[in-house]
Amino acid sequence: MDILKQKFAEKALALFQENKELLKNHGHVKLCDVTIDQAFKGMRDIKCMIWEPSELDANEGIRYRGYSINQLRSSLPRVPNGKEPMPEGLFWLMMTGDLPTTEEAYWVSEEWKKRADVPKHVFDMLESMPTNTHPMTQFSMAILSLQTDSIFAKKYDEGMGKDEYWDAYYEDSMNLIAKLPRIAAYIYRRSFHNGNHIAPNPSLDWGGNYAHMLGNSDDPMFQTLMRLYLTIHADHEGGNASAHATHLVGSTLSDPYYSLSAGINALAGPLHGLANQEVIKWILEMIEELGTNTPTNDELSDYINRTLSEGKVIPGYGHAVLRQPDPRYIAQRHFAEEYIKDDPIVNIVWRLFTIVPPILQDLGKVKNPWPNVDAHSGALLMHYGMNEFSYYTVLFGVSRALGVLAAGIWSRALGMPLERPKSMTSKAVKKFLEDKAAADALKQSS
Ligand SMILES: CC(C)(COP(=O)(O)OP(=O)(O)OC[C@H]1O[C@@H](n2cnc3c(N)ncnc32)[C@H](O)[C@@H]1OP(=O)(O)O)[C@@H](O)C(=O)NCCC(=O)NCCS
Repeated sequence: MDILKQKFAEKALALFQENKELLKNHGHVKLCDVTIDQAFKGMRDIKCMIWEPSELDANEGIRYRGYSINQLRSSLPRVPNGKEPMPEGLFWLMMTGDLPTTEEAYWVSEEWKKRADVPKHVFDMLESMPTNTHPMTQFSMAILSLQTDSIFAKKYDEGMGKDEYWDAYYEDSMNLIAKLPRIAAYIYRRSFHNGNHIAPNPSLDWGGNYAHMLGNSDDPMFQTLMRLYLTIHADHEGGNASAHATHLVGSTLSDPYYSLSAGINALAGPLHGLANQEVIKWILEMIEELGTNTPTNDELSDYINRTLSEGKVIPGYGHAVLRQPDPRYIAQRHFAEEYIKDDPIVNIVWRLFTIVPPILQDLGKVKNPWPNVDAHSGALLMHYGMNEFSYYTVLFGVSRALGVLAAGIWSRALGMPLERPKSMTSKAVKKFLEDKAAADALKQSS
């Protein structure tokens, strides 16, 4: 058994036993009540699922296994002379709950290199698609096309027992994560660089090699940015759309390929991951419309108000859970402040931070007027020559795979059953209210 699997097995078995006791003694205790508002409006704040790798606090932002983004940036292992964490170390942390040593992070890196070869039929499938197919569509299809190699599906077919699920899920997840940078870079090069592909560099780590294969920048800082990017987008607890979609599909005992492909499809929505492309599209359209990349504050405000008056949202602002500026935004801003001194798009992103929130606040309905992770990421990519914004959500997807697949392995190890919440019709809600009113009236009259 490999060292990560060994450590995971110890932790998972212990938690499985603990949870058994917890459910036996406290399974009947209520975690929360659900209002009609919550049922109609996207199930906000309903505590109804278990997710081990990370948890989101509305004011502090995301914590991976209790560590904030800031803490991770200073305490996760780095490549020699590296300035940002290795995503490999984050995966170890999410899987085990313990910060890895540098050796352990490098073990993950080497393990993924061994598993990185992509079968030819995946490239053949991609080549059968028009090059203008949205990169997220290509990415989801490529992940699904790898399902031919699913160990979980094969072993299930052969009759594996429940206690073996997590092991097969682990193997598939490790294989899948290892292959994602090559697949994702292939999609970028075929879509935007005439299929002029760049071979992997086996001396590089997972994030560095992805940046190398994308090939949009010779600046070594692009590799550094990619390590940061792949670390901060990895997880945002279990209720967000991509995580929840992956989790739901996994709960049917579909394998990691089916599950991640579903999660990537959710990430492709403009209210979720696609917001990162929408932000830059919106800023570039603004620059074109105003004829300047140094607009005045009044011009920025007018453009924001015009967007709102057309019934559109301001991309990159607002959040379903967060109520403060997103620490993932702040981390990217710190990166830019340190390494990118003067860039017109970055400057616009920074100025929007002061101009957008009061305008959103004045609408009187937006619960969080602050920027989220997507408000900043595109400006950094543009700085390093990646102008093809329809590709941006693929980068997010490569990172998101780390969190949702780590969670999937945990779900299988903890014996999570098929997910099946209860739905109601509007008519049934009205009937419920009528019955309740009648019962209340009866109680008052007696
Ligand atoms: C993320 C998002 C979908 C959260 O939605 P939510 O939980 O329903 O947010 P709220 O409860 O604050 O929404 C209340 C109202 O404010 C609006 N609102 C929220 N964020 C807004 C924004 N950035 N611009 C304009 N209006 C916004 C909502 O559309 C909603 O309007 P409605 O009642 O007329 O339908 C929403 O903030 C949004 O659309 N943001 C822009 C897209 C984006 O950046 N997505 C990435 C998220 S990480």
